[in-house]
Amino acid sequence: MAESMQGLKRTHRCGELTAAEVGETVTIMGWVQKNRNKGGLVFVDVRDRSGIIQVVCEEGKTDPALLEKAAGLRSEYVVAFVGKVARRSGAVNDKIATGEIEILPTELRILSESLTPPFPVEEDSKTREEVRLKYRYLDLRRPDLQRNLLMKSRVMTLTRQFFANEGFLEIETPMLGKSTPEGARDYLVPSRIHPGSFYGLPQSPQLYKQLLMCSGFDRYIQIARCFRDEDLRADRQPEFTQIDMELSFVDVDDVIAVNEKYLAKLFKEVLDVDVQLPIQRMTWQEAMDRFGSDKPDLRFGMELVDVTDVVKGCGFGVFTGAIENGGSVRGINAKGQGAMPRKKIDKLTAFVKDYGAKGLAYVAIQEDGTVKSSFAKFMSDGEMQNLISAMGGEPGDLLLFAADKNKVVWDSLGALRVELAKQLELLDKNEYRFVWITEFPLLEWSDEQNRYVAMHHPFTMPMEEDLPLIDSEPGKVRAKAYDIVLNGNEIGGGSVRIHQDDIQEKMFEVLGFTKEQAYSQFGFLLDAFKYGVPPHAGLAYGLDRLVMLMAKQDSIRDVIAFPKVKDASCLMTEAPSVVDEKQLKELGLETLTEE
Ligand code: AMO
Ligand code: AMP
Repeated sequence: MAESMQGLKRTHRCGELTAAEVGETVTIMGWVQKNRNKGGLVFVDVRDRSGIIQVVCEEGKTDPALLEKAAGLRSEYVVAFVGKVARRSGAVNDKIATGEIEILPTELRILSESLTPPFPVEEDSKTREEVRLKYRYLDLRRPDLQRNLLMKSRVMTLTRQFFANEGFLEIETPMLGKSTPEGARDYLVPSRIHPGSFYGLPQSPQLYKQLLMCSGFDRYIQIARCFRDEDLRADRQPEFTQIDMELSFVDVDDVIAVNEKYLAKLFKEVLDVDVQLPIQRMTWQEAMDRFGSDKPDLRFGMELVDVTDVVKGCGFGVFTGAIENGGSVRGINAKGQGAMPRKKIDKLTAFVKDYGAKGLAYVAIQEDGTVKSSFAKFMSDGEMQNLISAMGGEPGDLLLFAADKNKVVWDSLGALRVELAKQLELLDKNEYRFVWITEFPLLEWSDEQNRYVAMHHPFTMPMEEDLPLIDSEPGKVRAKAYDIVLNGNEIGGGSVRIHQDDIQEKMFEVLGFTKEQAYSQFGFLLDAFKYGVPPHAGLAYGLDRLVMLMAKQDSIRDVIAFPKVKDASCLMTEAPSVVDEKQLKELGLETLTEE
């Protein structure tokens, strides 16, 4: 039976009560966390978003009807208690903030009852994620998720305040836009009024924010929803949120400066962490050479070593073959792992194969200095010693090598480095290592499309000194693009944009667009640029990724209230779903396959 709250007014949140309120009559409202009935003595823990308070009903002290009602309470009932705050008569509980006090009630109302929940509402749930996501409204009652979303809310508030103080204007851009897929697939929305035509949901507000610069708004910020139909991973969702910005009359250093100030403020206020400024910068080339990744985790070493020159003339065909094909041989030294069992090395070999490697050659240096190796038989002792010393190998070390095209070597050793750090527990979530990655290549060759594609997007400015290479060696042109990386995660990225028509035209040409194709997709932007465009640059953070790291979570699902799972569906609402024939008809649509 649900009672009304009429006549009652909540005076405090549960977790906000302290010893200062002892003797006061208070009214609290919340969910029953737990009810312990010790015969004549009933303890009820009441929870709301601020924490838990204990209510004690005792025979002889509490009204008998209230005692009986309290004894009948079950988990997740919603209740209101009126009562006096008192110091605990029993032991103090130093695990909770209100552990010194309790409430001696004079009134109890059951505002609503609850079925037995499918899993207990508690910290660190052991329940399978599929079950938690089906009942997400219950899952979200858990203190860890409440904390995560509270932190996200703080980050959003601080972000708005910070950028407003820096002269940024918050301007909304459309969700229903033009489909201009470049990168991920677009989510499409059919138009009822224009049958056969579709809006595209934005992958980012990129084009609109550049137009806002053309319109003279000078500094723009938006906390923007973005939609990308791509394969999901722990750090990717089909819809996610960006902290998106664009600035006029600036170059790389200006964008970096305001964002360093922002990150320092954010981390200080939310986590009391001091971000050392300036944040380290590293070129893309250096990041790839040293870490095999454009999002290097700098919390640990195990850097890649290029041994191409050392093994050039050796007898091991895997190495020399890769070099002859224009590739390289690189290794990492897993310090102290020389005794790793063969089975575990085989697992690492299987791991790198997911990144395109054909194998993983190893040298395990035993404590007595002898070596166990998958390729020693192809090398002279001298060649092996040279290789070991190039790798800084010492007794007890495990040296792991990949030989292939650079991209495969980087991808596989870069991923292996992080995998080993996980296995060896080298990653401390309390440490925050930022790095700007700069001077990205402008273009990336796509085997699939048999053409160059923009590494960031087609509006990214090449580095002026590399412009002469754009026709002869487009792959060598660097861009005024930058990513901000935190603990091996790309939390944001941006670039200086092209604002000169001749460079933009050239860029489309290199990307294999005809003039007509470029115009049909981006004509409005190209036209806008003919009416006075300021030099401009910008950046966007993945808000969910940023908060995931701040909240020390492993998945962005844990900082999104209602996330989707791997197949892009929502387990709670069961979206996406089949719609009525009538709805389809109105939109002029027909489906090819029945569900
Ligand atoms: P970019 O594509 O690099 O740049 O995206 C910016 C940041 O958004 C985050 N992000 C994602 N987060 C969750 N799920 C996803 N599927 C996802 N995809 C990207 C990442 C990434 O760093 N318009 C440009 C920015 C600019 O040039 O100003 C852009 O969208 O943290
Ligand atoms: P194989 O000659 O194929 O028996 O390989 C000998 C060793 O070299 C094994 O440890 C393989 O895992 C390793 N190996 C094979 N191909 C490569 C490669 N491209 N890069 C590094 N190691 C490799």
